[in-house]
Amino acid sequence: MSIQDAVLLKELMSKRRSVRSFSEKPLSVDFLEAFLYAGQGCTSADGRRTAPSAHALFPLTLMVVVRHVDGLVPGVYSYDSQARKLVRTQELIDDGVLNSAALGDETWLEDAPAVIAVVAERQSAIDHFASQQADGLRGARYVDFEAGAAVQNIYLAVTAAGLGGVVVMGFDDIKMKEALRLELPYFPVALFCVGHPLN
Ligand SMILES: Cc1cc2nc3c(=O)[nH]c(=O)nc-3n(C[C@H](O)[C@H](O)[C@H](O)COP(=O)(O)O)c2cc1C
Repeated sequence: MSIQDAVLLKELMSKRRSVRSFSEKPLSVDFLEAFLYAGQGCTSADGRRTAPSAHALFPLTLMVVVRHVDGLVPGVYSYDSQARKLVRTQELIDDGVLNSAALGDETWLEDAPAVIAVVAERQSAIDHFASQQADGLRGARYVDFEAGAAVQNIYLAVTAAGLGGVVVMGFDDIKMKEALRLELPYFPVALFCVGHPLN
């Protein structure tokens, strides 16, 4: 690591923008795996990851709704941070379902070749930090904060790859939980639509 690395990082950060229009070109699985690693990849034998976590609790999991990714059958996948592997867990979500859980008409939720979902064991984090703040707000805040760190890492990795994407948090929590067919203890925190920018 050197001052040159810091300068490169600065340049990368200056180029980060939200992109909401995607070409039909499929995403490569290598790029997708690089973005998942940026978000929650395991970086040490004791389970530390690319993004920080309060009390090293690591309540986040990344899932991916795969529509057009070279080398992957469309469907819903879960990212195993430790093994750095994608595991297919469900069939593809029907057209219209993700968008109907959004608060606005977020067409990019369905146009993007892949949508990374940051989901959390939110109640475990709330319970874990309840002794510090009994109303549970501390644990909930930490989950949101950690998701923000993961998403920023993903934004920067996507920018470095010359691709584009946008975080979406404007959704109905319960409807999105159902749309992603999440079972307890998982709760949806943020979505990141990613693909090749149009133009
Ligand atoms: C917490 C948070 C929630 C966001 N939710 C949405 C969203 O629901 N839909 C969307 O299109 N963009 C969403 N965005 C992206 C912002 O609109 C975007 O970051 C902002 O317009 C600034 O543009 P930039 O990212 O290109 O700098 C969200 C951003 C943040 C930080």
